[in-house]
Parts: sequence; C-alpha cells; structure tokens
Amino acid sequence: MTRASWRTRIGFILAAVGSAVGIGNVWRFPWFTADNGGAAFLLLYLLFVLLIGVPGLLGEFVIGRRGGSDPIGAFSALGGRNWRPMGGVALLASVVVLSFYSVVGGWILRYLLGSVTGAYFDAPQQFFGAIDYGLGAVAAHVVFLLVTAGVVYAGVDRGIEVATKIMVPGIVVLLVGLAVWASTLPDVAGGYEFYLSLDWGYLQTNFVDVAAAAAGQALFTLSVGAGVMLTYASYLGEDRSLAADGTIIAVLNTVVGLLAGLVIFPVLFSLGVPPGDGGPGALFISLAGAFESLPYSRLIGFAFFGVVALAALSSSISLFEVPVAYLVDEHDVARSWATAGVGALFLVTGSGAALSSDLFTLLADNVANLALTVGLLGFLLFDGWVLGKAALEEYESGAGPLARALGRPWLVAIAVVLPIFLTFTLLSSLTGLAGIAVPATGLLAAAVAGVAAAIAVLRRPGSAF
Ligand code: PHE
Repeated sequence: MTRASWRTRIGFILAAVGSAVGIGNVWRFPWFTADNGGAAFLLLYLLFVLLIGVPGLLGEFVIGRRGGSDPIGAFSALGGRNWRPMGGVALLASVVVLSFYSVVGGWILRYLLGSVTGAYFDAPQQFFGAIDYGLGAVAAHVVFLLVTAGVVYAGVDRGIEVATKIMVPGIVVLLVGLAVWASTLPDVAGGYEFYLSLDWGYLQTNFVDVAAAAAGQALFTLSVGAGVMLTYASYLGEDRSLAADGTIIAVLNTVVGLLAGLVIFPVLFSLGVPPGDGGPGALFISLAGAFESLPYSRLIGFAFFGVVALAALSSSISLFEVPVAYLVDEHDVARSWATAGVGALFLVTGSGAALSSDLFTLLADNVANLALTVGLLGFLLFDGWVLGKAALEEYESGAGPLARALGRPWLVAIAVVLPIFLTFTLLSSLTGLAGIAVPATGLLAAAVAGVAAAIAVLRRPGSAF
C-alpha cells in the first residue's frame, strides 16, 4: 500500500494552518490578551511566535519529513527502537488535547444552533451554564467527533486537504467581514486602543507572568508538541523549503488571531462590556450577550460561531489524524478501521471530559500544557543531539539562500536555547502545581543543569556540535 501524501504545496500549508488556527486564536488568544494588559501581551506573543514557535515548528517538521511516518514510527526509524516511547508521548499529547477540544467543539455547535434559534439571546449566562457539562454536552461532543472522523476517514488528500482548502479561506473571509462590520459600531475607539496601544508600565511590572502566558500561547497556537505537525510533514512528497512553509503558516495563523481581536474588542467596548472579567467562559457569554443588542443579531451570531466552528474542526481533524496515522503506519490497519477505533477511543475520553468539569479543567489547563511542552522538548533534543547534522541537512533540503543562512542559528536555538526555556516553563508550572515556591533563578539553574545532563546522555559521535 502506498503511503498517503498531499497533492499540492498549498494543500499542505492550508492543512497546517487549519491545525494552527483553532479555538486558540478565536477564544484563548483574545482572552489572554485581555487578561494580560492588551498590547503588552500582543507584543511578547508576536516575539515568541517568531523566536520560539517557528523554530519549534521546524524542528517538528524535520523529524516528520525525514522519518516519513507517524510519530512512533518516525522516532523508531531515525533513532532506533529505544526512541519509540518519545513518539508515544506525542501520541498521548494529541489524545489529551482532543479529549477536551471536542467538548469545546460541541459547545460551539450548540452556540451555532442557538444563533439560528435565538436561544442564548435572553439569558447568555444561563445558556452556557445549561450546556457546559452533562449528557447534552456528551451528545454535542459526539456530533463534533463524527464530523471530524468523517473528514479523516476520507483520507489525507481527499479528506483533510480538500476540507481545509475550503475551511481556511472561509475563516479568513468571514473574519474580515466581521472585523469590517465591528468597525462600524458606535464607540469602538476604546476597543482598538486597549488592543493596540502599548502600556510599557504594565509590561514592566508584570513581565514574568505576561511572558509565561505569551510563550505558552505561542506553542499552543502553532500546534507544536503533539506530533500533529510531525505527522502532516510526513505526508510531504517532494523537498520544499520547510522554513518558508513554516513562516507562511505562522504568519497566516497570527493574522487570524489578530483579526479575531479586531472583531471581539470593538464589540465588547462598543457595548461597555469589560473584556478581562471572569476567565474563559466569560468571553463566550459576554459576546453572546453583546450580539443580542445589535442589529442582525442572529446573522452576526451565526457568522461568528461559524468561524469558531470551522477553526475548531480543522484543528480537531489534525489531532485525530495522529493516532490514525499510528494505526495505519505501524499496524497496517485499514484507514476505515483505524478511524473507527480512534473514534471509539475519543468517544470515551471526550465523554469523560463532557461529564466532569474537574476532568475537563485538569486536561485543558494543566495536562495539555505539560504534554505539549514535554513533547516539544523531546523533539528538539532529538533534533539537536541525535539527528544533529542530519537535522540540518533535512532543514536545508529545498531551502532557499536566506533559510540556509539561518540553518546554523536555528540548530543552536532548538538544541540549546529552546530546551532550557521549555524546561524552565515546565519546572515553573510543576512547582506551581505542587504549591512549592521556588525563585526564578533557582528554576533557571535547574533547567540549565537538566538540559546539560540530557545533552551529555544524548550526544553522539555524529553530533553537529
Ligand atoms: N493550535 C490549535 C488552536 O489554536 C490547538 C492545537 C494544539 C491543535 C496542539 C493541535 C495540537 O486551537
């Protein structure tokens, strides 16, 4: 059986953009921006996407294209059988993320329906409270999962490529339309100002917190660490510039995030709703409430939640594909059976998250972040110290002169700088969870020592350093 592959370059790029653009852009990004001082957060986020997100994304691409297989198969092919568990970590991360993601997907479908019937207009607060967890949430998550499975079942080129070629342009067009519409609302100036003007004082006093939030968001939004981008790159046939593709993907992803902000903040400010109140659910609730008092409320609501639904779906497809690729590549299971099996798995794990808010929060807030960070850490150390020269070679294959010139700095960044940074954030969230207060310098020292020890173990004769 010949292995699946993308039909066109733009197909690969749009599928990866579809994965990156998700509820992270339309929901988590504006919410984090509001919580972290508006433009101050925006600035750091842009910086981290460039300095951490893109190099990390390329690190994942390199393993995928060179390994030509699912995460477990790729690690095993490139590093030997002992590396299979590392692929397993990525696989697990994709399962963790999709297990809560499809629950949010179900919520979005309910809002989409509610926009047509007007169900949430009278009492937005109660509407969210009525749909968030329970049997209704299970049912909605199952519907969302079925649509996801349908696209994955249709295959890489005929399902994922075709679907994302329609969905991604649809998201951009709808968001541009909504942003233009939002600019015509009365009293929107405050919204733009909050979003786009920089408060240096805020950034100075809250630097560490804002930076940590921005770094986490940079990884989440580019879908790195879960083996998704690795798997997508494994379907690349010819050698094209990974650096160029990765940059395009990051730019498009950022544009969508910025556009979402240009819709959300003017709407909230126009109606005098404070943006930073009350965490994740609040944005849904206040936006849903805001739509009600505007002309064409049902149409606007439908367009907005339509964007969110498309964005969520194109990401869940990519997460679903990871375990499917594993079954197809490693166990020779037919795609149809693999889709059914993986669907059954997510039916169970997602239903758990749809029934228990504790499980949902545990997965969405903590486990997902930890799993993505550990996943990416493993990818980058593997690139830098096991593949070494081969990673650079893979990066350079198909690359233009500018990308080639950046090859060496890229390798140093992903082999040393990023691992230290990721270990630092990992240690700070772990000690935070355990309720132990450790000063930042202590965490940094531990991170440097940990990475140095890992490098000493991994370093091989063929290493590029
Ligand atoms: N990037 C997606 C979003 O922004 C989330 C995601 C994370 C998808 C990890 C796949 C892997 O919503």
